[in-house]
Amino acid sequence: MTLALYRKYRPKILADLLGQEMTVQILRNAARENSLAHAYLFYGPRGTGKTTAARLVSKIVNCETRILNKEFQKGGEPCNQCRVCSEIDSGNGLDVIEIDAASNRGIDEIRNLKEVARTAPISYPRKVFIVDEAHMLTGPAFNALLKTLEEPPPHVMFILATTEYEKLPATITSRAQRFAFKKLDKETIMKKIAAICKAEGLKYEADALELIAVAADGGLRDAESLLDQVHSSAPTITIKTVEEVIGRIGFKKLHEFAELLVTKNLPLAIKYLGELNESGINIVQFAKDLIHYLRRILSLKMNPELEEMFNKELTREDITDLRELGAMAEAEFFIKLIKALISAYSDMRYSPFAIVPLEVTIIECLQSRS
Ligand SMILES: Nc1ncnc2c1ncn2[C@@H]1O[C@H](COP(=O)(O)OP(=O)(O)O)[C@@H](O)[C@H]1O
Ligand SMILES: [Mg+2]
Ligand SMILES: [Zn+2]
Repeated sequence: MTLALYRKYRPKILADLLGQEMTVQILRNAARENSLAHAYLFYGPRGTGKTTAARLVSKIVNCETRILNKEFQKGGEPCNQCRVCSEIDSGNGLDVIEIDAASNRGIDEIRNLKEVARTAPISYPRKVFIVDEAHMLTGPAFNALLKTLEEPPPHVMFILATTEYEKLPATITSRAQRFAFKKLDKETIMKKIAAICKAEGLKYEADALELIAVAADGGLRDAESLLDQVHSSAPTITIKTVEEVIGRIGFKKLHEFAELLVTKNLPLAIKYLGELNESGINIVQFAKDLIHYLRRILSLKMNPELEEMFNKELTREDITDLRELGAMAEAEFFIKLIKALISAYSDMRYSPFAIVPLEVTIIECLQSRS
């Protein structure tokens, strides 16, 4: 069963857009006062609500209820019930033209943009062009867009969205009202996916949701897709299934191995490594994850205040582990180990026996007296 949760739970009003408070407030105020701009640029990481916001704005400027009811207009939201709102929701809004520069969908519209933009909307007050992944437009398309942005016909609105702001020419960005979309923090993502689980009647371990939120790295769409995938592989959302789906060895394994290193338990460390290798995991990736893991132990040891920052991307349990391991050895030990692992890692990438440089390095580090 594929629920396509990210579609089902797409926010229906601006107020439901999480983690973008400033943007929401400014857009709603403009909607209340009927002073929305002619061109917007939404930029920021993937899965943070840019396309969603673009569709919401396209509903707001055209919503029939808003136009007829001045009282309703003061809410600064679409009604989601009128003909226009439902057409746009189902992707059938005749005057909402979505162009995906990444996939070339609707790219003809851009080529003829000047003409298309000049002709009056067919059935809505405003013709809205949503240009997704705008940084991928080709030269001629940029020029057509630029010309139209310079003198936009009054019945037209542009909403550009991109993950790569720097790739857009300043001639374009300077003509749009810009909003930076931000990564969502772990707690916000957890709350939302917990609510989805509840609504869908899915059973879950709280820690599993935390791991999903961490793996999604600030993007709610990724979190929702992960939830979908995990759920389709097992009825209950557990840490174990999440780990399998995200295909990384969880922090648990790194923790176990790091513990063997800081306690200088050479025999068990070698055994552990051998077993990992046999289990078929990518040992090069493991070495890389291990370096990051040790680096985090060390930096947390040096500055306990980093905990707050780490808390945005790691689970609470992960952080406790890091702190405890940090207390078990001197900073010098970690520094030496990290340096040696970095050099082992570059050897591993070109070695036909990736395990060997790693093994030898571990033996060297754990044997020395320091
Ligand atoms: N800020 C957000 N608040 C609530 N849901 C969000 C948010 N950002 C993304 N989502 C969820 O992810 C899905 C995809 O978001 P989308 O707007 O396409 O992201 P983007 O265009 O930034 O990549 C939405 O349908 C929604 O379920
Ligand atoms: Mg998008
Ligand atoms: Zn409406």
